Amino acid sequence: MRIDIITVLPELLRSPFEHSILKRAQEKGLVEVVVHNLREYATNKQKSVDDYAFGGGAGMVMMIEPIAAAIEALQKERHYEEVIYLTPDGETLNQRMANTLSLQQNLIMLCGHYKGVDQRIRDHFVTKEISIGDYVLSGGELGAAVLADSIIRLVPGVLSDETSALTDTFQDDLLAPPVYTRPAAFRGWEVPPILLSGHQAKIEEWRMDQAMERTRTRRPDLFQQWNEQNQEESEN
Ligand code: ADE
Repeated sequence: MRIDIITVLPELLRSPFEHSILKRAQEKGLVEVVVHNLREYATNKQKSVDDYAFGGGAGMVMMIEPIAAAIEALQKERHYEEVIYLTPDGETLNQRMANTLSLQQNLIMLCGHYKGVDQRIRDHFVTKEISIGDYVLSGGELGAAVLADSIIRLVPGVLSDETSALTDTFQDDLLAPPVYTRPAAFRGWEVPPILLSGHQAKIEEWRMDQAMERTRTRRPDLFQQWNEQNQEESEN
């Protein structure tokens, strides 16, 4: 998979891809992340990438020419399944979207700034608009880093223990159950005895119960969804 990120702040996007799983994914050749400085595609002498909004009002708008030039230069090299614009008014990111995007070959992520990009970019170049949550960031860069992280760890071969992504929170629409490691007792706080029993079937049953209880109490919306889906499946 290849992810091209277009930004006015390339420095902001260096560190997230230089550590741990995301770094290893690139070293293994499973994923390539390329960050592009939008300013290099500026077409005027001042190398500007933003301008005043038509109709007035506070805040600058990202200009169409540099962004169009950047996207078209990339599209000339290869086919991209999605051109994603990171924006607080996009579709809210969830695990299902990350799963779907992890199956694609090439993705472009466009980071917005200021008051956002000229609407014509969204109308004619962008194929998907994604928000990472109902709050406003100072730019799309951290959103792109979050989105890329959620996708890359799902690319086959990236996680060494393949089952660990399958048991993540949200992966089967439930929150993950609690986990423990040694020591079995600390200041009198003990690990649930079932986990030390060696009885795998009973352990799985306990984990499922815990996952359901956690989801029911913390995320009743998810729990209802999960219940409805299970009911549908048992009827079919
Ligand atoms: N840019 C600004 N806020 C954002 C958000 N919540 N998600 C994605 N991109 C953004």
